[in-house]
Amino acid sequence: MSLDFLSFPVGSAAIVTGAASGIGAATAQMLCAADVTVIGIDIDADRLHSLGLGPTFHPYVLDTGQPDEVGDHIGRIAARHGPIAHLVNNAGPPSSLPLSIEEGLAQTAGSVQRVTAAWMASLPADSVHASLVNVASVAGAVAGGPPPSLVTGRGGSADNGWYPAGKAAIAGLTRWHAVSAAGRYRANAVAPGITRTPRLHDIVDGAYGRDVLARTPLGRLGEAADAARAILFLLSPAASFINGQTLVVDGGGGLAF
Ligand SMILES: NC(=O)c1ccc[n+]([C@@H]2O[C@H](COP(=O)([O-])OP(=O)(O)OC[C@H]3O[C@@H](n4cnc5c(N)ncnc54)[C@H](O)[C@@H]3O)[C@@H](O)[C@H]2O)c1
Repeated sequence: MSLDFLSFPVGSAAIVTGAASGIGAATAQMLCAADVTVIGIDIDADRLHSLGLGPTFHPYVLDTGQPDEVGDHIGRIAARHGPIAHLVNNAGPPSSLPLSIEEGLAQTAGSVQRVTAAWMASLPADSVHASLVNVASVAGAVAGGPPPSLVTGRGGSADNGWYPAGKAAIAGLTRWHAVSAAGRYRANAVAPGITRTPRLHDIVDGAYGRDVLARTPLGRLGEAADAARAILFLLSPAASFINGQTLVVDGGGGLAF
């Protein structure tokens, strides 16, 4: 598929967090195909280094949830690779992780803000076409997560709601950035519905997956590439007058309740 219509200027670079798997890996792969240099960040060193995306992909092992590490690391990465006009905040803990509400917010919206602040600090004052895309979720936009009747014993966010709270906070933070950046960069988000990635292997083919499938007008569940295509569009100059929006990517599955 030609990606020329996205119009990324020659020499563009992007940071993608959570680049080793799922939506992040699909995004990194498509950006490389669009001739964008990709700085891929992940905690999973083995997967990150085995992606095989070629010489325009630069892997860095970093935990975006560690407040003490992120700022310096991103600063060093930007100094090494030159101006990085684009950022995809995709990394985030799976909803099955047992976090307190405070920790859940720190690991979702907190991490997004931390990485974004470091990226902003590295942006040249005269940056053109700079943009960021945050990965939220339909869980924060309309649904709130799998109902207990369809997913039992999964724990994690099901016990205290940190996941929908964190994803809603990411959408709010995106709107705040869109306004407070005052044209220095654009900020948008995608909100994927249930998407076939490794973290959902335990529920995607079970009762919850079947329920979402039955409600989805397009007759299938999301693939990582579906979210990645939306991310690339919002990140690119093709979306140059779109700012502060959260684009739902769920095949319409959230509409039929
Ligand atoms: N899969 C879905 O159904 C779905 C739906 C809506 C939103 N999302 C969101 O999409 C994003 C990507 O999820 P995915 O489904 O592709 O999952 P995934 O598990 O396939 O990939 C996530 C990647 O992020 C990395 N990661 C996690 N925490 C990190 C951290 N603190 N620092 C650096 N890297 C970290 C993991 O190692 C992994 O490689 C997440 O923010 C998730 O909440 C997923």
